[in-house]
Amino acid sequence: MIKLSVNINKLATLRNSRGGNNPNLIKAAQDIERYGADGITVHPRPDERHIRYTDVFELKKVVTTELNIEGNCTEQSFVDLVLANKPTQVTLVPDSLNQLTSNHGWNTIEHAAYLKEIITIFKNAGIRVSIFIDPIIEMIEGAKVAGADRIELYTESYAKQFAACSSELTGPNELTIAPFRAAAVKANELGLGINAGHDLDFKNLKYFAKNIPGLLEVSIGHALICDAIYLGLENTVQIYKRQLS
Ligand code: PXP
Repeated sequence: MIKLSVNINKLATLRNSRGGNNPNLIKAAQDIERYGADGITVHPRPDERHIRYTDVFELKKVVTTELNIEGNCTEQSFVDLVLANKPTQVTLVPDSLNQLTSNHGWNTIEHAAYLKEIITIFKNAGIRVSIFIDPIIEMIEGAKVAGADRIELYTESYAKQFAACSSELTGPNELTIAPFRAAAVKANELGLGINAGHDLDFKNLKYFAKNIPGLLEVSIGHALICDAIYLGLENTVQIYKRQLS
């Protein structure tokens, strides 16, 4: 079974826009689990423009599936937050301050020593560690050397290619998926678990899931929450789950 972890950052952005507590993030997380999601993902940033650090403490108390905290581990405040909450998984993302959204994976070769050190800290605390990377064989090998449990494949390029094929009416093809499948084959060979995320949506999800051997988890935020505006949250979570079955 491929797990669906729902990224609830966008709900926090909506809440923060009016300063109150609507939508209630904690209730939304519980509802999303009840509707069938297998996990909740949050991406706190130091400026707390969407998820606040206090949200993470509250979520940790109620999430009964898997809590995944993703973010920039070069910020000490992020490291402290993760260690204080001990989520099921931490996903290390090399994004910088004020970045709109994650836009590249780790260079696991250039930052090998640093990654080894930080991964050891989280693993010693009993937290599963995933590294956000582009589908490049050397980066996957580097993730293994650094000691990661899993990789999260950065899927923006897949989503773009998928959309281009759809608009040309050719449909997705080998070109769309090849680098991701090769990356997955390498990860499987090395014993690394495989997650994926960024720009996945209900149109491109099924083809990705069908073609990636050993895919364990997808983390989806933006498109899922946008679809929920039209389809409702419960319906949307279930539609996304069905693409994975
Ligand atoms: N994975 C990572 C590392 C991310 O930074 C994000 C966006 O916060 C996602 C997955 C989810 O991407 P999207 O919001 O496009 O579904």
